[in-house]
Amino acid sequence: MSKFPKDFYWGGATAANQCEGAYNEGGRGIIKNDYLTAGTHTSPRSYIYRDSDGNIKRASMFELLPDDAELIIDENEYYPNHIGIDFYHRYKEDIAMFAEMGFKMFRMSISWSRIFPNGDDEEPNQEGVEYYRSMFEEMRKHGIEPLVTLHHFDTPYALEVKYGGWENRELIKYFERYAEFVFNEYKDLVTYWLTFNEINNLVMMTSFVPNLPAKVAQGAYQSLHHQFVASAKAVKKAHAINPDNKVGCMICGLVSYPLTCDPKDILKNQHRMESVMYYSGDVMVRGEYPAYSNRIWDELGITVDITDEDKKELKEGKVDIYTFSYYSTSCVTTHEGADMGSGNFSMGAKNPYVKYSDWDWAMDPDGLRYILSELYTRYQVPIIVTENGLGQDDVVEADGSIHDDYRIEYLRSHANAMAEAIEDGVDLIGYTSWGCIDLISAGTGEMKKRYGYIYVDRDNEGNGTLDRIRKDSFYWYKKVIASNGEDL
Ligand code: BG6
Repeated sequence: MSKFPKDFYWGGATAANQCEGAYNEGGRGIIKNDYLTAGTHTSPRSYIYRDSDGNIKRASMFELLPDDAELIIDENEYYPNHIGIDFYHRYKEDIAMFAEMGFKMFRMSISWSRIFPNGDDEEPNQEGVEYYRSMFEEMRKHGIEPLVTLHHFDTPYALEVKYGGWENRELIKYFERYAEFVFNEYKDLVTYWLTFNEINNLVMMTSFVPNLPAKVAQGAYQSLHHQFVASAKAVKKAHAINPDNKVGCMICGLVSYPLTCDPKDILKNQHRMESVMYYSGDVMVRGEYPAYSNRIWDELGITVDITDEDKKELKEGKVDIYTFSYYSTSCVTTHEGADMGSGNFSMGAKNPYVKYSDWDWAMDPDGLRYILSELYTRYQVPIIVTENGLGQDDVVEADGSIHDDYRIEYLRSHANAMAEAIEDGVDLIGYTSWGCIDLISAGTGEMKKRYGYIYVDRDNEGNGTLDRIRKDSFYWYKKVIASNGEDL
């Protein structure tokens, strides 16, 4: 008998800026990611910009851009997000393939700048509005429940230029206006919503980068606070517009273990988990800052501006469901000489008990069972794993087949972990694996870091037909969904 509940939402996930392409079509406004070049596992993506003296310079995505930097699109560079996988034009055929696999849910994101190109426009861009309506109708036609992210790394760039981004409180009202608009517009088509993708990424570097200037940490935590308030206001609107709406947070699953049983490692890891992961979920699910917040702010030497009105909003705008991404885990230690590895999300010491992917991400299905249980005990609201998967290059055989047994093995082990977590008592209601169709990697800009059940013929340099091919994992996932997770 299947361990998964009868109406379990099996599906997949994407994000507009990594798959749509058509970055300057349909009245869409620019986002900062449109200026990001391609990178690799070892060389970071970068921005090209003009400084105030008119010099053209390059900065990696991990560097701080100078205040006077004017981002430019350099004709000689390759910008993978501009074409993406051309989902903008091909969504009907792609959704039909998701339906063929039996998807119950498809997580995608609305590009805010397709609806309000500058973020603060008075009137929406009708072409963008109709585009998403058509996409939701297409999903409904196939019996697929949309799970819609409102913000997936894509604040309209005009808001960043005009107001300086999320550090400025002004952005809250523009996000609220955008959220209210789409809740009203699509109220007959969508009931599952996520506000900000991996909201905790905003402050991730404050735990991983040593000696970060207090100014940077201050900006990051203040921006995060503004997003919490914007999210809470959106949740309230969503509930007022349609009481059936279910709104979730989306937290990056930065799960870590103490490397040793040294109590100092245990404490350090507890502090790490609170700082990078629990902090955001605690505010969004419980509606108030956790007791340990003051300690985090004190250690960073920062003061977050939180008004009484903000506190009220946070209380009134608690999310209904907890959702998170889970790819890998890392280890935390106070001991010198530990192997620190190089996975970009698993910054920490290497775990000798788990295997690593080609991109150095730890593959740790037990960690998924562990964190599901921790999260449910902490929050007691329904949970969806809204991202999970293995980024790995694939080989297309001469006959056009793709034998991605490594991906099947990864996904199977994580599905088993979810089944165990459900037996542990966790109210897990869905699973939308990441990049159900190959798309542009957010971290490296590569195409060959593939997560999909569906292969897209495009390479790291932008060559290829963009044709879609079913991988072996496509047929495996179809069988999994048909058996509701019994036949893994
Ligand atoms: C999550 C993001 O962090 O991880 C996605 O929400 C991203 O946008 C995914 O694509 C996988 O990361 P990457 O760097 O392999 O694309």
